[in-house]
Amino acid sequence: MTLRHLFPSCLLTLCIVTPTFAQQAADSVSPEEATAMAAFANLSGAADAAMTAKQEGRPVSADDWMVVAANPLAVEAGAAVLADGGTAADAMVAVQAVLGLVEPQSSGLGGGAFLVWYDAATGEMTTLDGRETAPIAATPTLFQDENGERLGFFDAVVGGLSVGTPGTPKLIEDAHRRWGQSNWADLFTDAIALADSGFIVSPRMAGAIANDADRLQRFPDTADYFFPGGTAVAAGDLLTNAAYADTLRQIASRGTDAFYTGPIAEDIVATIRNAPGNPGVLSTVDMALYDVVERDPVCVPYRSFEVCGMGPPSSGALTVGQILGMLDSYDISDPADPDTWRLIGDASRLAFADRGRYMADSDYVPMPTEGLTDPAYLAERATLLRGDDALPEVTAGNPNWDHAQLWGDDLSIEFPSTSHISIVDSYGNALSMTTTIENGFGSRLFVRGFLLNNELTDFSFATHNDGYPIANRIEPGKRPRSSMSPTIVTQDGEPTLVIGSPGGSRIIGYVAKAIIAHVDWGMDVQQAVSMPHLVNRFGTYDIEEGTDLISLEDPLTELGYEVNIRGLNSGLHAIAIGDTLQGGADPRREGIALGE
Ligand code: GLY
Repeated sequence: MTLRHLFPSCLLTLCIVTPTFAQQAADSVSPEEATAMAAFANLSGAADAAMTAKQEGRPVSADDWMVVAANPLAVEAGAAVLADGGTAADAMVAVQAVLGLVEPQSSGLGGGAFLVWYDAATGEMTTLDGRETAPIAATPTLFQDENGERLGFFDAVVGGLSVGTPGTPKLIEDAHRRWGQSNWADLFTDAIALADSGFIVSPRMAGAIANDADRLQRFPDTADYFFPGGTAVAAGDLLTNAAYADTLRQIASRGTDAFYTGPIAEDIVATIRNAPGNPGVLSTVDMALYDVVERDPVCVPYRSFEVCGMGPPSSGALTVGQILGMLDSYDISDPADPDTWRLIGDASRLAFADRGRYMADSDYVPMPTEGLTDPAYLAERATLLRGDDALPEVTAGNPNWDHAQLWGDDLSIEFPSTSHISIVDSYGNALSMTTTIENGFGSRLFVRGFLLNNELTDFSFATHNDGYPIANRIEPGKRPRSSMSPTIVTQDGEPTLVIGSPGGSRIIGYVAKAIIAHVDWGMDVQQAVSMPHLVNRFGTYDIEEGTDLISLEDPLTELGYEVNIRGLNSGLHAIAIGDTLQGGADPRREGIALGE
């Protein structure tokens, strides 16, 4: 096995496997690859083989169980639980605990998550909302200055103002209580050991730290961890996190009461309220009141499948479902045909128009949730796609709704980050969970060994648009609208695909396209997650740089789109369920699929 096999250069930069799947493997080993190898040098043979499979563009196959996540150390922790007879919920706890250590910029105890669960014993789908909440003291103008002007994005993000009450600890505990069978405390053993004895910093984590040096060094505790002695933590460094180990020990022994009340909660609140330059308003009452909400899954038929995911406050399942629902009556069988991308792009634009007007936390604002995915409404919207060129203008539609209300279109700003976990256990249960602290490194506030989220900036900074209230405005206790799209696809009631991705509001396009690639273009899961991206949210067509799909730039421009070639940093993690389990991990990130 060469260094290149163990950690291919395409993981460090960008390796895209096109529909023809010409793998762009490097001919020589770079210093980064050598560092990357060190980062994961102690991985099992199975993890090593999983990396090779990803490099070669092959899915990982297994018969019994499978786990896919963004870092091999986290995947191995989950795999150990599954191999020991644990459920997908048990494994998720172990994966999340390690991700919070080795990929702290993306998710962790200080953030929130959504989880979709398929229960093999009952055949039921359940969704859990562990989204952060706005503090009781938050006002709709939280992100406006004294003149009513909206704050700049990073002025709002960095510091205490953007921090919502974390939901991830309660979510993992709730899922374990419902569906776990392993001993709760044992699920933290690997994460605690890694935090105590140290883990090798991955190239991705190191790169993220270097890219965010100014913001991370604004707060002493954050700077001490990521810049010990004033120097950025580098790829290949051995990093310990005793504070994180201590926090996990307390959660392991006393449950998440140890997090939501008492000294840890008090430290979180003090960190937020005393953040220099940008104090927030979260209180110990907010912490003590936090709860996970079970919500109805949103399921939309597509071809012979049902695509199920997380409803409000996530816009994920509704928007993915609208895109697929509008495309259902069209022939999009040829990914090389620009008209296929016109249909996908304009269906996305129509769905995003509805998202911007109607989607928010339905506990706070009335929402036409059923109307938005009503087949008759989607069929009517789909007639708008009948032309030959890009739609010159796209506006929100008028879904059936028993509530009279005029909303203003949303004015939220969104940047990508986040992490996705897909798991199938040996009992046939399936779990799809997208987990986040919002922006890379969240609010940049670091306390008790983890970062606090900046999820409140997923709210609209403005309260009104054109005189109409915005559904996703800030309100006390409300959950900010999300794009996270943890998804389980079923056929005849049985799960066939578990999938999700990070990527801000582009998550929706990444997930919809990967489902289309698997269902319509017959790609296996690795091909589907590796395929280059074309994403259209609000009109501009983003094409992934360095990929074959750039050949579509001219045809799409001729159809009337503004085309933008750029990096598109998804982190799609998927498991296809058939006679065997097939796992695919996004080559744009460091994760792997592991199964047995
Ligand atoms: N903060 C990313 C999302 O919830 O969509």
